[in-house]
Amino acid sequence: MFIYCENLVKIYKVADLEVIALQGFDLSIEEGEMVGIVGSSGSGKSTFLNVVGGLDRPSAGVMMVNGRDLLKLSNRELESYRRHEVGFIWQQSARNLIPYLTAWENIELPMTIAGKSFKEKREWTAELLNSVGLWEHRKHKLAQLSGGQQQRVAIGVALANKPSLLLGDEPTGELDSATADEIMALFQTLNKELGLTTIIVSHDPQVAQMVDRVITIRDGRMSSETVRRLVTDDGPDEQFDELVVVDGVGRLQIPPDLRGKIGTSGRVIVQEGEDGSLTIRPVNRE
Ligand SMILES: Nc1ncnc2c1ncn2[C@@H]1O[C@H](COP(=O)(O)OP(=O)(O)OP(=O)(O)O)[C@@H](O)[C@H]1O
Ligand SMILES: [Mg+2]
Repeated sequence: MFIYCENLVKIYKVADLEVIALQGFDLSIEEGEMVGIVGSSGSGKSTFLNVVGGLDRPSAGVMMVNGRDLLKLSNRELESYRRHEVGFIWQQSARNLIPYLTAWENIELPMTIAGKSFKEKREWTAELLNSVGLWEHRKHKLAQLSGGQQQRVAIGVALANKPSLLLGDEPTGELDSATADEIMALFQTLNKELGLTTIIVSHDPQVAQMVDRVITIRDGRMSSETVRRLVTDDGPDEQFDELVVVDGVGRLQIPPDLRGKIGTSGRVIVQEGEDGSLTIRPVNRE
C-alpha cells in the first residue's frame, strides 16, 4: 500500500482551544491510484492533504507513505520527504510563482535549487513543458499567461523534482469550468503516463467522473466512498456506487439524508438475512 493511514488524528491548538480536524481517519491508497476527496467546508480535507504532504504533523495514529512513517520522521527527514517525494498544487499556486520569469524558468528553478546538472535540467524542463501543454508558451513570462496556463506552470513546478505523489488542494477552484476540465484532464494524463499517485481535493461532486474513487470526509472522518463500476447489461456504461465505510471496530455513518429514519431513540436493530444481507431497522420506543 502506497499510502496507509489508520486512526489518524490531527488536533490544532489555538490559544486554549483544541480543534480536532481529523478524528480517527482511515484510508489506504495504492500506488498509481487517482483519488478525489470531497466534503463540506471545515470537514478536514486540507488538513488531511497537509498531513500526507508533510506540511503538518499528525497528532496520533498511523500515517505511512511509501514505507515512511510520517509520525517518526525527524524535522529534517520530513523536509526532505516534502521536497523530493511530494508535488503540491493549490487553488492559488500561481501566486507562488515568479511573475517576471518565463514558464521555462519557473519550472527549471526548483531543479537549480536542488543542484541538478545543466543537461538534466534542460531535458526534464523541456519534457515537462510538453507534458503540461506549454511548449509553445515556454518563453512567455508568467504574467503574460492566462490563469489556466499559470496553473499548468504550477503543475510543472510541482513535478520538477520528480515526486511520486501529487497533491492538489482545490487546484481548479479559481478557474472557469472549461479550463477546470482541461486541468483535471491533465491530472488524469499525468497520473497515467507518469504513474503518479494523485489526490485531488475538490468541492465539485463531478470530480467522481475523473478519478478512480472519491472519498467523502465528514467531521474529520472518512464517511463514504464512491467507486466507479462498469455495468454491461445494455452495453458498457458507468455507474457510481456510494459505499458507506465501516471502520475497524464496525462503526458506520448513516448518510445524512437517511439519518432522519433512525428516529429519536438513536438505536437500531441490526439483523442478518438469509441472503447474506444486513438490515438496519429503527427501534420505535413510543
Ligand atoms: N492551522 C490551523 N489552526 C487551527 N485550526 C485549524 C487549522 N487548520 C485547520 N483548522 C481547523 O480544522 C478544521 C478542518 O479544517 P480544514 O482546513 O482541513 O477543512 P477543509 O475541509 O479543507 O475546508 P474548506 O473546504 O473550507 O477548505 C476546521 O475546523 C478548521 O478551522
Ligand atoms: Mg481546505
